[in-house]
Amino acid sequence: MTATRKRKRLVIAIDGPAGSGKSTTARLLAQRLGYLYLDTGAMYRAITVKVIRRGLSKEQIPEIVRFLPDTRVELEQADHGVRVWLDGEDVTEEIRTPEVDREISWVCQIPEVREKLVSLQRQAGEKGGIVAEGRDMGTVVFPDADIKFFLVASLEERGKRRWLDLKRKGIDIPLEEVIRDLERRDRIDASRDISPLKKADDAIEIDTTHLTIEEQVEVLLKKIQERFGDVLEF
Ligand code: DC
Repeated sequence: MTATRKRKRLVIAIDGPAGSGKSTTARLLAQRLGYLYLDTGAMYRAITVKVIRRGLSKEQIPEIVRFLPDTRVELEQADHGVRVWLDGEDVTEEIRTPEVDREISWVCQIPEVREKLVSLQRQAGEKGGIVAEGRDMGTVVFPDADIKFFLVASLEERGKRRWLDLKRKGIDIPLEEVIRDLERRDRIDASRDISPLKKADDAIEIDTTHLTIEEQVEVLLKKIQERFGDVLEF
């Protein structure tokens, strides 16, 4: 590779159910490549925070649609993930509460919500050099992504990971309850009409049940290198 030849900056799509290891893997992969990490779940979470704060329910969708044009959702790259800003306020912690987990499944099915966020996501990926993570990255948002991954793991393992995450934050919920909530969200995410969680035909499936985070990143990097050898060369 000559000094003048620019490395191709890829669009990397990562989808999978909650707890499959997507977020940490995507973040570390983006760090390794010097790419932007796009946590699209965080964007749906931010909108859900606004819905909860305004005390809005499923029956008040027109009111949600009305506040969308004036709603700003921004992701800021930080050392240990992203900071999430809603209308200029840092909501990084608030987006991860069990209350948001409970309400998000219906909020993220509102077509206008998806339209707004999908458009922001595509803008972020316009110039490439992005690791985009969510449920519909390979199928809807970036159907022409350079490489697509679909991460899976057993329900028990995903439940344990989520339980540990919550525990670390001081939120103590029985493991069985965490697993039940994951199961419920999986079912809704996979069976909804709009942008369901689905493996793209050309996505590479990776089972992370028995892999550490470091191993997951290595597996993805290896696949990327196999396809685009020189992306990692400087
Ligand atoms: O990845 P996460 O757990 O933070 O996502 C939270 C919810 O947002 C999840 O239940 C489904 C929804 N989501 C979505 O519908 N589309 C995306 N691209 C990302 C997340």
